[in-house]
Amino acid sequence: MTHNVSLTRYLIEQQRDNGRITPQLRLLIEIVARACKRIAINVNKGELGGVLGSLGTENVQGEVQKKLDVIANEVLIEANEWGGHLAAMASEEMDDIYTVPNRYPHGEYLLLFDPLDGSSNIDVNVSIGTIFSVLQHRDGQEVSAKSFLQPGCEQVAAGYCVYGPQTTLVLTVGNGVVMFTLDREQGSWVMTEDKVRIPEDTKEFAINMSNMRHWAPPVKRYIDECLAGKEGPRGKDFNMRWIASMVADVHRILTRGGIFMYPWDKREPGKPGKLRLMYEANPMAFLVEQAGGAATDGRQRILDIPPTELHQRVAVVLGSKNEVERVTAYHHEAA
Ligand code: AHG
Ligand code: MN
Ligand code: MN
Repeated sequence: MTHNVSLTRYLIEQQRDNGRITPQLRLLIEIVARACKRIAINVNKGELGGVLGSLGTENVQGEVQKKLDVIANEVLIEANEWGGHLAAMASEEMDDIYTVPNRYPHGEYLLLFDPLDGSSNIDVNVSIGTIFSVLQHRDGQEVSAKSFLQPGCEQVAAGYCVYGPQTTLVLTVGNGVVMFTLDREQGSWVMTEDKVRIPEDTKEFAINMSNMRHWAPPVKRYIDECLAGKEGPRGKDFNMRWIASMVADVHRILTRGGIFMYPWDKREPGKPGKLRLMYEANPMAFLVEQAGGAATDGRQRILDIPPTELHQRVAVVLGSKNEVERVTAYHHEAA
């Protein structure tokens, strides 16, 4: 493909030619992309920028915050609060929503993010990312946490930026999935993939195998069958990858297919899963479906789940369509 489409051009064309996005949404995406550039600069400096290590504080989920979790969160808020495109923001790193201060104009969009995904990989120089999801503030009421509690199918845009060997921004506005690579010399996002498609079949799975003894029977059955390889019921050998950054695992799946799972397990039976619905599972499910893949919680489509809490957790099965449908069928059979 020719590398002559910038993010700005793509967004202007989505606005002008297809009426896909409004000027406010275009501004929002440009600003998130700019914030990701700033986060990338911090990530790349690493120890030289004094950004590695923990802060010693905990977020609302009881996880120790790394310095970069907090830096990335601040970068996203500062970049987005003044533009007039947002009513409020919500983040993994903030207990409550962040309403745009009254000194700035308020807009019609709600932005959710996981500012730094894959925090356990920061200090060991492995790929990490930023995930974001955009909803509309529709109800006309004063914005509150409740305004955010819309199912994933209501998202008007979603994406992530992966900080890896390359810095890549992956985006959907509901019209397929596109990828932009950061050109550091020019400081611009250049389109490097315009029709991302996930193959329907795969021989590659991603799951944290150390939790195997805690899984529910349908998940155990699926992985056992993969592990049995050529001689087993699947009749083919499978390969495994687990990066422990959802962004990086999903990026691999959008690039060459695969299935990603973070299932419920019996260590904490009351907890549906580890990943968060609103700013991890929903945006990734939107991207994966837009690329021809599927995403469920083992039973139902993630994008149809009616949220009840901002920081709600969910089991996640996503990626190549036929494999996700198989895992989902195993759950239904077991029930
Ligand atoms: P975060 O760093 O935003 O808390 O998210 C980490 C998530 C996700 O990115 C990854 O897939 C998963 O946690 C890894 O979990 P394990 O360490 O349990 O494998
Ligand atoms: Mn995360
Ligand atoms: Mn995070």
